[in-house]
Amino acid sequence: MKLGLIGLGKMGLSLAENAMDHNHEIVGYDLNKDFVDKAVAAGAEGADSLEDMVAKLPSPKIVWVMVPAGKPTDSTIESLSTLLGKGDILIDGGNSYYKDSLRHNEILKAKGIDFFDCGTSGGMEGARSHGNFMIGGDNKEAFETIRPLYDDIAEKDGYLYTGRAASGHYLKMVHNGIEYGEMQAIAEGFEVLEASDFDYDNEAVAKVWSHGSVIRGWLMELAEEQFAKDPELEKIAGRMHASGEGQWTVQEGLDSHVPTPVIALALMMRYRSMQDDTFTGKVVSALRNGFGGHAMDKAGK
Ligand SMILES: NC(=O)c1ccc[n+]([C@@H]2O[C@H](COP(=O)([O-])OP(=O)(O)OC[C@H]3O[C@@H](n4cnc5c(N)ncnc54)[C@H](O)[C@@H]3O)[C@@H](O)[C@H]2O)c1
Repeated sequence: MKLGLIGLGKMGLSLAENAMDHNHEIVGYDLNKDFVDKAVAAGAEGADSLEDMVAKLPSPKIVWVMVPAGKPTDSTIESLSTLLGKGDILIDGGNSYYKDSLRHNEILKAKGIDFFDCGTSGGMEGARSHGNFMIGGDNKEAFETIRPLYDDIAEKDGYLYTGRAASGHYLKMVHNGIEYGEMQAIAEGFEVLEASDFDYDNEAVAKVWSHGSVIRGWLMELAEEQFAKDPELEKIAGRMHASGEGQWTVQEGLDSHVPTPVIALALMMRYRSMQDDTFTGKVVSALRNGFGGHAMDKAGK
């Protein structure tokens, strides 16, 4: 099929290449012209605006949005709601908050445009050849139009139509919450090893754990790769950025009274990692000094 792809960054370009490997045609658009040129070099047709991209698509028009979640996705979908029409299909493959997807669905539904919220997993490598997709959308029949695309670009058994609109992004949110907890547990384990009296080789440990152990998996394989490049990870800072999904998962747990202690603490550790020092620490230190005369460290030391 021929589809438009908006956002040709780390994920979008890989998805475009993956789809083109399976004889799908891509009309690519990105705010950054260099990325459009890259997609054209890879075999896509380039577009210099959303209007241009839409004009280059046959009806029913199928458009995949792969831009950062939040404002860029909001504004892209708002513009597309005026450029697409009844029977056209819009897929949001980014990590949008599911409540935003509910809102996007209402905007598009009013115009007769079928919206699919598609949680995308598997990273750049997956996007390039064997992605993982969780897809929600009210019109199950319209999903059949795009199913052949997923048959081609997903890992075998690696996509799921999850039901009504926003259920795909909801599932991806929880998936990422789980990812927070798994990564935190792996990281804590390696830190305990680092602090021990034993002399472990991190790469070798990750390798042996990747071969037949209960905790084997892609994250452990990635740990092995990273330790191979930088055995003590001395070249990078331990700041763990967060883009929302962990926070949203914990919020859902709070709202529905579901305890999510592992994901919540993993999220707190990410926030903590962004601080060089904490006011909490200063307050506790000052209080300990106040009641027990315990020593306080000087700021900056
Ligand atoms: N990187 C990952 O592993 C991963 C995995 C799953 C999902 N995602 C999601 O996929 C989406 C894209 O992620 P990425 O890693 O490719 O990001 P990226 O920053 O590499 O690429 C985003 C691209 O979108 C373009 N862009 C931004 N605003 C635009 C607009 N208004 N119109 C047209 N183009 C615009 C940028 O120029 C950039 O090329 C995000 O929602 C992200 O959360 C990323």
